[in-house]
Amino acid sequence: MMTRIKTAVFGAGFVGRVHIEGLRRLGNVEVYALVIAEQDDPARLGRQLHIERTDSDYRRILEDPAVDVVHICTPNALHVPMATDALQAGKHVLCEKPLALSTAQARQLVDLAAATGRRNCTFHNLRFYPMVQQMRRMREAGELGEILVVQGTYSQDWLLYDTDWNWRVESAVSGASRAMADIGSHWCDTAEHITGLRISSVCADLQTFHKTRKRPKGSVETFAGKTLVPEDYEETAIDTEDFGAVIFRMGDRTRGSFTASQVSAGRKNSLQIEVFGTKAGVAWNQERPDELWIGQRNSANQILIKDPSLLLPAARSYADLPGGHSEGYDDTFKQVFRRFYRSVEDPSAAIEYPQFADGLRQLTILESELESNRKRAWVDVPA
Ligand SMILES: NC(=O)c1ccc[n+]([C@@H]2O[C@H](COP(=O)([O-])OP(=O)(O)OC[C@H]3O[C@@H](n4cnc5c(N)ncnc54)[C@H](O)[C@@H]3O)[C@@H](O)[C@H]2O)c1
Repeated sequence: MMTRIKTAVFGAGFVGRVHIEGLRRLGNVEVYALVIAEQDDPARLGRQLHIERTDSDYRRILEDPAVDVVHICTPNALHVPMATDALQAGKHVLCEKPLALSTAQARQLVDLAAATGRRNCTFHNLRFYPMVQQMRRMREAGELGEILVVQGTYSQDWLLYDTDWNWRVESAVSGASRAMADIGSHWCDTAEHITGLRISSVCADLQTFHKTRKRPKGSVETFAGKTLVPEDYEETAIDTEDFGAVIFRMGDRTRGSFTASQVSAGRKNSLQIEVFGTKAGVAWNQERPDELWIGQRNSANQILIKDPSLLLPAARSYADLPGGHSEGYDDTFKQVFRRFYRSVEDPSAAIEYPQFADGLRQLTILESELESNRKRAWVDVPA
């Protein structure tokens, strides 16, 4: 009988449930314990998801020596205390983004993970779409030439109305930034991963369109607010941004810009990224993940439809299904988990996933964006 790695999942709202499904696709991992807030009824959700061990106090679960790995899928302010305690309890930790509320906190986590020698991952899963890997491998193979321009957006509409509410709008729970931390960080991680370049200076302009929002009197899970009626709200001041626009430099020559928005009507989860080099351009949109646009100056442009046999060899292992069989958001979870758990089982295995250091990197860019917005000036991003 082979032993399975035992994992505890902390938080099972929108994303925690996708983690649980993804973990169950691996085979060598058991979803052993579940921790959610008391008001969300851990025992009931445990029964629904077929997880026997449930609790509302994560510390009790950390005391259990049977737990090997912890996934942190709770609101942002809980990431640091949970990750710190889990590492100190000797667990491997996979933490949702943003890793922390500040670079100072994130640096402590990076150091603690190094001191404990535990595997650590910040969940920037969007790198793991087959077409994102294809863009990266095309760049590595020299097919794009020198990268000149990187541009795009991460646009959503689920916080468009002042009646839209989620813990993300509250800085005490979410952190000082919302759109930039929540989705802008995914865009920047994707841009740096594809290009292999680092954002070195930023000029950012952030906007909070709704200075107050109508807070629902009951609790609301992510993306679930659309079903409430106006009588259920109370007026609340808001200090996190709905939108941000950033111009950036990547070293001496490469230039770019992106926007992050949670108020763009009709855009549900539109991460678009375009990379233009001296030889060719590539463009991709998360809402149509199996399609990659390849732009040529002197010949017809192409649309590459995901098909492992048509991907560059280094991108192939990120696509499991044959051409024409779509692979989407939840498949990126399986791809990260597969690589993360390989390194849990075999400490000598290559680290092929974003670590806490990558979470710290995104917070470093984020703090530069916030400083730039405050000063209305360009700010250099610490290396
Ligand atoms: N990588 C991605 O694509 C992605 C997508 C969505 C969310 N996220 C990240 O995942 C995290 C969770 O976001 P969400 O949208 O799933 O939130 P959510 O509000 O839908 O769910 C939060 C969960 O945390 C639990 N929780 C709250 N307080 C708790 C406590 N004190 N102890 C234990 N559990 C507690 C709640 O019961 C709930 O199950 C955030 O950090 C977010 O940035 C990442």
